[in-house]
Amino acid sequence: MVKQSDPWIETSDVIPMFPTLVWKIQLREKLRDAISAKILTALEKLRRDLPALGPGQGWQSERALHQREELGDLVSCVNNGARSILRFWRIGCDAFEVTGCWATVLAKGAAHKTHSHPNNFLSGVYYVRTHAGADTINFHDPRNQTGIIRPPVLELTAENTDQVVVRVTNGTLLVFPSYLEHSVDATLCEEERISVSFNIMFSSFTENLSKPLW
Ligand SMILES: [Fe+2]
Repeated sequence: MVKQSDPWIETSDVIPMFPTLVWKIQLREKLRDAISAKILTALEKLRRDLPALGPGQGWQSERALHQREELGDLVSCVNNGARSILRFWRIGCDAFEVTGCWATVLAKGAAHKTHSHPNNFLSGVYYVRTHAGADTINFHDPRNQTGIIRPPVLELTAENTDQVVVRVTNGTLLVFPSYLEHSVDATLCEEERISVSFNIMFSSFTENLSKPLW
């Protein structure tokens, strides 16, 4: 930053603009335990006839878990969180819905490559089982033009990094813009990492929001 004490400066500011926001919510212990237990029961049923995951392998469930009764409490939390986020953003459209919800199970050595969740407004992940060495998610700079020239830095800071690693634990609920690319490094833990992802979209998108603004 330009030094305020420089003789030629009256005042100097850095103006942050177009921030990328990721909400990190930690559920209360009792609710977390109840929600996670129901999810684990549902996943047990879904995986009953499947072979156990080998090293480096991952599994994803069907995409409509939000329609299952066992996921009802999680969907309520997701809806409450999304409502608060839309209020925070002063978005004047309150009809939204979970459009997809699926579980991801990663065995030791399994990773999840960089991706985003197209055709939705908000996305998120709820963490059912994390472990040391299997408790982070990486978010990548959505300003892709900034990658064209990336000079070496003396120190990684929030202002010069192209990736932010967020640590999560059992019961963490992350919510972020669906366009924001993210990835998961290969897990280093013997036990399975289990999470449930979801997408949220405005219910009346074609009816109301997609009309031309010009
Ligand atoms: Fe994802």
